[in-house]
Amino acid sequence: MTDDPRFAEVERRRGEALAGGGEEKAAQRRAKGRLTARERLDLLFDPGSFQEMGTFVTHRCQDFGMQKRKPVGDGVVAGVGRLRGRTLYAFAQDFTVLGGTLSETNARKICLVQEHALKNGAPLVGLNDSGGARIQEGVTSLGGYADIFLRNTLASGVIPQISAVMGPAAGGAVYSPALTDFIVMVRETSHMFVTGPDVVKAVTQEAVTFEELGGAAVHSSKSGVAHFAARDDRQAIALIQRLLSYLPQNNMEDPPFAESDDDPEREDAELDGLVPREPDKPYDMHEVIRRVVDRDSFLEVHEHYAPNIIVGFARLGGRVVGLVANQPRFLAGVLDIECSRKGARFVRFCDCFNIPIVTFEDVPGFMPGTAQEWGGIITNGAKLLYAYCEATVPKLTVITRKAYGGAYCVMNSKHIRGDLNIAWPTAEIAVMGADGAVSIIFRKEIAAAADPRAEQQRITGEFREAFANPYVAASHGYLDDVIEPRRTRAYLIRALGFLEHKRLQNPPKKHGNIPL
Ligand code: HXC
Repeated sequence: MTDDPRFAEVERRRGEALAGGGEEKAAQRRAKGRLTARERLDLLFDPGSFQEMGTFVTHRCQDFGMQKRKPVGDGVVAGVGRLRGRTLYAFAQDFTVLGGTLSETNARKICLVQEHALKNGAPLVGLNDSGGARIQEGVTSLGGYADIFLRNTLASGVIPQISAVMGPAAGGAVYSPALTDFIVMVRETSHMFVTGPDVVKAVTQEAVTFEELGGAAVHSSKSGVAHFAARDDRQAIALIQRLLSYLPQNNMEDPPFAESDDDPEREDAELDGLVPREPDKPYDMHEVIRRVVDRDSFLEVHEHYAPNIIVGFARLGGRVVGLVANQPRFLAGVLDIECSRKGARFVRFCDCFNIPIVTFEDVPGFMPGTAQEWGGIITNGAKLLYAYCEATVPKLTVITRKAYGGAYCVMNSKHIRGDLNIAWPTAEIAVMGADGAVSIIFRKEIAAAADPRAEQQRITGEFREAFANPYVAASHGYLDDVIEPRRTRAYLIRALGFLEHKRLQNPPKKHGNIPL
């Protein structure tokens, strides 16, 4: 120990930074079931690995008495550390310090970790918990937000960016999370909205609570803004850690391989009986996924939003894949506006980060109706189509039952560069279902028949026999194979091995113009 007072000064100042807004404010947070910023970071990183950056930063505001309130660290904790040995950058807004509000200087701290993460090719996690722009600072705070938004955008597609919203995120503050790849919200304690309940009441006379307007339940099911809704702070951090375990550090790396003790050649006889004989009878596509991928490896994204399509990460023989699957249990797996957007965003994420895409297809087509047409199913459906078309990662498709109409083309058909496309014997690939097709092309014959109902049934049976199978498509080479469902896992794992070194480039361009 030295008695040099300059050393004591470091400790005193560091102590102030570590104390944040003080024990009383921290206790209030804990009483509301929330952890403090530093507790959250402690949970996120490997023990002892976190290196703080900008520890002693203070704000420069001289107005509204702020010159007398200069908390060390200025309401955000930022830095770098390790997660399971891999480099990770993060910041956590500290609500106990001036409401975690964004100032010119604490925005600078966030920008700094954004820049380091981008430069060093490592993911960035933002733990958001803030009253928004620091009102006393005015435009310099707004400028700070814009600086962050720019860096979020420049880092997009280069490093994975994950946001957790663990308290309020109001006004423009929502747009940094919205620019990142994934948003995790915490049930009951986090809220995201552009304008709060008071403004809503004043403008639209709508009475709405914080939770109804922008809680985790709403954003993970109705708006799709949040990809995950966690029970509490701890579960939110655990989710982020699990999510990162599937992701590469940056767009130049492959996702991390993990040894699996699940036999790659494992056959599952139950799969052979999973698709019902009746074409309109639902079954659970989750069951297909569960039985095919490495045991317990599936992490669903957007579980409660647009459930007619399932997306998520899993492993096959230890390799990370992104799964996109129609879900016949909801709306018969039809493609509508919401599920097209959900699927498109996920496919694009996988393509950014070298994650092969495996598609399980059972889709009766696009959703009809004025709500869909007026809502722009054309533009939104085109998003999914565009995303699949432009993706250059390995792309595999398994048609389990229906592949009808435009949806056949969209769901990673061979024509849009599906690498290996296979079907189960239960597959039906056609312009539309047998009933619809017959009523259009044989309308006159049916009307003229002595017994129109019987005639319709007879022709539908013949049509089904001729077209509701995978062999017409297979005969054209649009399918690479028709396999017993039980062999799906082994097929996909081998296929991923063959495609390991796939190289494919789209024509050079500044960027495409996805129909947004
Ligand atoms: C300065 C703020 C603040 C703000 C909260 N505080 N928000 N200080 N600027 N925007 C301070 C409070 O004065 C208080 O200070 C401390 O933070 C904790 O806030 P409380 O209100 O006591 O906490 P709570 O009751 O939990 O309510 C939290 C809250 C509420 C719902 C977030 O504070 C609130 O509505 N704040 C305003 C939110 C808002 O409208 N922000 C601007 C959005 S617009 P003391 O000293 O008492 O501890 C925006 C523009 C961004 O952000 C644009 C980017 C393009």
